[in-house]
Amino acid sequence: MTALLEVRSVAVRFGGVMALSGVDLDVQEATITGLIGPNGAGKTTLFNVICGIRQPTSGVIMLDDIEINRIATQKRSALGIGRTFQRLELFTTLSVFDNVLVAAELAGVNDPRAVAHEQLLLLGLADRADIIAGELPTGSARLLEVARALASHPRLLLLDEPASGLDDAETQQLSVLLRQLKSLGITVLLVEHDMSLIMSVCDQIHVLNLGSVIASGTPDQIQHNPEVIDAYLGAVR
Ligand SMILES: Nc1ncnc2c1ncn2[C@@H]1O[C@H](COP(=O)(O)OP(=O)(O)O)[C@@H](O)[C@H]1O
Ligand SMILES: [Mg+2]
Repeated sequence: MTALLEVRSVAVRFGGVMALSGVDLDVQEATITGLIGPNGAGKTTLFNVICGIRQPTSGVIMLDDIEINRIATQKRSALGIGRTFQRLELFTTLSVFDNVLVAAELAGVNDPRAVAHEQLLLLGLADRADIIAGELPTGSARLLEVARALASHPRLLLLDEPASGLDDAETQQLSVLLRQLKSLGITVLLVEHDMSLIMSVCDQIHVLNLGSVIASGTPDQIQHNPEVIDAYLGAVR
């Protein structure tokens, strides 16, 4: 089975720092795949390379068996790659609705207003559509960021720490949403430090440490991997 996303021998150098070195991983279609590891492991850098914000120093990114390294970010979005940011990138002076509307318009979807409304309903934000985004509590702002990413109807959705700042009820809502996205055929690559969320929703997990993949497997395999416990899980448990 060919993976939807294939990362092959990807390296990223920042001056003397190798943020990523020789990263190989696959993301299968219609799965939830976790990407975990300590701060500074290279998770956000890998997202930046996948969505085209950063060029790798070497290596290849393939979507559907086609190399996309030279395709600009905007075009990758049209190919179906959507993402959220670890540091929220909302339009803080626009309403919740307009934030999603702008994303839908930029993506060129049919009937952007309907798409924006649909995403706000999905994320449980419809009753806050008229609030100014900058006034939202962090939890709702994270969910709004997911709604914006979904407005382009991505096939592959990259979520960078979406549960950060969410309370238990919002995290539960997020986990229901992730399963719903999977059932709709959307492939999710999830960076998260909330291990109970990761272990309960992921089909497959890749573990990054110091820019290298140190383990790939099911949640059960990852939780029992001594190298992963040593490098990361021991610290977050
Ligand atoms: N723009 C940048 N310039 C220089 N170093 C960077 C830059 N972005 C990230 N790094 C470094 O690359 C490494 C990986 O960072 P990052 O991808 O943000 O890790 P993570 O998301 O796993 O916490 C870290 O050592 C970080 O300091
Ligand atoms: Mg990060």
